[in-house]
Amino acid sequence: MPVKLILGLQHGDEGKGRIVDDFTESWADIIVRFQGGGNAGHTVYDKQGNKFVTHSLPVGVLHKDKLNIISKGCVLNIEELIQEIKELNVSSENLKISGLCPIIEPMHVLKDKLKYQGKIGTTAKGIGPAYSDFYARDSILLRDLIEEPSVTFEKIKTKYHEFALHKSKDIRIDQLKLYYECEHQQFQFMQKIQEYAEFLSKFILEDEYYLSKNLDKNIILEGAQGSGLNIYSDNYPNVTSSSPTIGGALNSTNLNHKNIDEVIGVIKSYKTKVGSGEFKTLCDEKNHKILATLGKEFGATTGRPRQCGWLDLDEVNEAIMQNGVDHLFITKTDVFMNIESPKVYFNGEYHIISNIKDINEQDEGFNQLLSLITNKTKINKISYTTGPLRGQIKFS
Ligand code: IMP
Repeated sequence: MPVKLILGLQHGDEGKGRIVDDFTESWADIIVRFQGGGNAGHTVYDKQGNKFVTHSLPVGVLHKDKLNIISKGCVLNIEELIQEIKELNVSSENLKISGLCPIIEPMHVLKDKLKYQGKIGTTAKGIGPAYSDFYARDSILLRDLIEEPSVTFEKIKTKYHEFALHKSKDIRIDQLKLYYECEHQQFQFMQKIQEYAEFLSKFILEDEYYLSKNLDKNIILEGAQGSGLNIYSDNYPNVTSSSPTIGGALNSTNLNHKNIDEVIGVIKSYKTKVGSGEFKTLCDEKNHKILATLGKEFGATTGRPRQCGWLDLDEVNEAIMQNGVDHLFITKTDVFMNIESPKVYFNGEYHIISNIKDINEQDEGFNQLLSLITNKTKINKISYTTGPLRGQIKFS
């Protein structure tokens, strides 16, 4: 059962992408993105320091000899997806997409921008409205577009016009520009819809049980966002609209819980968060500046600055319980080591550890960090990264 599930245990941006990338290089045959959409931004640096960012695509596409799958729990902005496929030169041997993925329509992006971006600080990629339609059983799936492009054309057009007609009654003057930009985008999308259908038809995953039938291969399930953003988390409504959890992975892939061999939880040695909602362990201005600057803590999708704070092991423990985490991966200690009095939060208290001078187990500060994490989470299998580049990693 060689299936590894890689999840973020904080609020996203833990560095899951580069962990997936390292496992892809050394181990995996198949890499599966199972939830979310273009709201994610998975950043990878190769050994030479060249930077790559994937949004809708699994990170495994950076390796041309691996099979990548976007499974049915993901929502697709097909325009952006095609652009990403072209930019990264991804072939149909390298990528398969479930026909059951709901499409993000231009109307979804408009709704997201008009209603939710100000309210809960979404990425404005249309994610929430697209999942709303899915649960209302009103989505257009990728297979509809491929199999019946003209019927789909009419459906998207009608949905947009019903929405626009209704919305135009209460549009505010400051929203007019946005409204007309989206109108233009809708027009362009409709003009190209046939072309998009043709392009994507060669990428369709033929068998929804492909993974179950290929369990002799090494499979990675690549989570996006993190447990704190789970739609079922008590952080609701300051969450995303999918489940970056083991539950979300199983629903999306048709695998069952017995197929998962190892759950790998990724945490940064500090914490960051974008968007609205409480941030209990937000740190002081001086340390914030160090983490934000050296950690390049700006959204890979939106460019928004991320708020920075101390690692919250209470939150991490909840995510460990929920997902049955076997193995912890700690990232970005090369950034955290620049903090003079590093702290970790657990059970209502801050624990101060010695300065980290080097990322190896002989270093007093780093050793204290690892011991604290092991003692408080009860996870003994801990791996860590030693720098941002592919291969700068110490597997447990
Ligand atoms: P949405 O996913 O665009 O609907 O945004 C909902 C919330 O999740 C907002 O607070 C976003 O900032 C946050 N969010 C969504 N995707 C990511 C991500 O990949 N990293 C970090 N935060 C994210």
